[in-house]
Amino acid sequence: MPQMSHSEYTAALKEEISSLKRSKNAVILAHYYTTPDVQSVADFLGDSLALSQQARKTDARIILFAGVHFMAETAKVLSPDKKVLLPSLDAGCSLAESCRADEFAAFRAKYPDHKVVSYVNTSVEVKALTDVCCTSSNALQVVESFPREQPLIFAPDRNLGGYIQRLTGRDNMVLWDGACHVHEEFSLESILKLKREHPAARTVVHPECREYIVRVADFVGSTAAILDYCGTDEADEFIVVTEAGILAEMRKRYPHKKFIPAPPTDSTCGCSECRYMKMVTLEGIRDALRDETPEIVLDEEVRRAAAKAIEEMIKIR
Ligand code: 13P
Ligand code: SF4
Repeated sequence: MPQMSHSEYTAALKEEISSLKRSKNAVILAHYYTTPDVQSVADFLGDSLALSQQARKTDARIILFAGVHFMAETAKVLSPDKKVLLPSLDAGCSLAESCRADEFAAFRAKYPDHKVVSYVNTSVEVKALTDVCCTSSNALQVVESFPREQPLIFAPDRNLGGYIQRLTGRDNMVLWDGACHVHEEFSLESILKLKREHPAARTVVHPECREYIVRVADFVGSTAAILDYCGTDEADEFIVVTEAGILAEMRKRYPHKKFIPAPPTDSTCGCSECRYMKMVTLEGIRDALRDETPEIVLDEEVRRAAAKAIEEMIKIR
């Protein structure tokens, strides 16, 4: 029997996934940081905020989350009656893992008069200890929804927290000391070199990056905000300082523009990739849909407490 080429194999896998989706009444939600192949089988592609809103309103029986663990947990929190599948349970997040619930509970106990704002990149147990969740799209609005005199804990990303602190001038905000390994690793030297080589390019930066990187940005924003900015700004070239998966959507939306990925300090591929997001594969999606496992299962009391914090966020935006 003749061997299938790689593209025939990929096309056959995509066909299998689409027929499983139909027969099982499943929907695939994917983050922009997954691979282009994975993005191509998604029913909905979005950043963290859009994905949580979509997870809440879908009427499918199964949500397959093409993303990382905390995202699938968020979907289950918001849609407890649906079966939520995550193709690889190893797809974690260095940021979420930098904030363990027991340590966070002890930290929170030191600031009894503080309200807690936490980024959705946290475990469900940390969300259950939170007053209002946020994503990078709405962190500013969420923080500003509290009266200025209200002291806050912001967790777990120290870079996003510091950025919001600088924007709002709020000095009564305590930051948890966590970070994302992808966004922390960009090299300032390489970005400055790219800026010299492409003087007309705009530099777009995710707020999970370090302060000295944010300072050289022309635009700072979440994944969705960066995508929109590249469409509305008149520039033809952009230096992209965030996870490289976003490039596929940029090139699809704006084929006449040029996108240059910024490299991290220590890079072999020349761009910055989240190894957890890349654990989601077409084979993994096919197997998870076929076998209806691995499934996200949550403790109901913890889920309810986490749901309150996420619903508060959705009310704000
Ligand atoms: P957003 O999707 O909010 O831009 O967050 C980026 C991220 O790191 C997701 O893990
Ligand atoms: Fe977590 Fe960073 Fe990967 Fe996003 S890019 S999932 S914050 S490790």
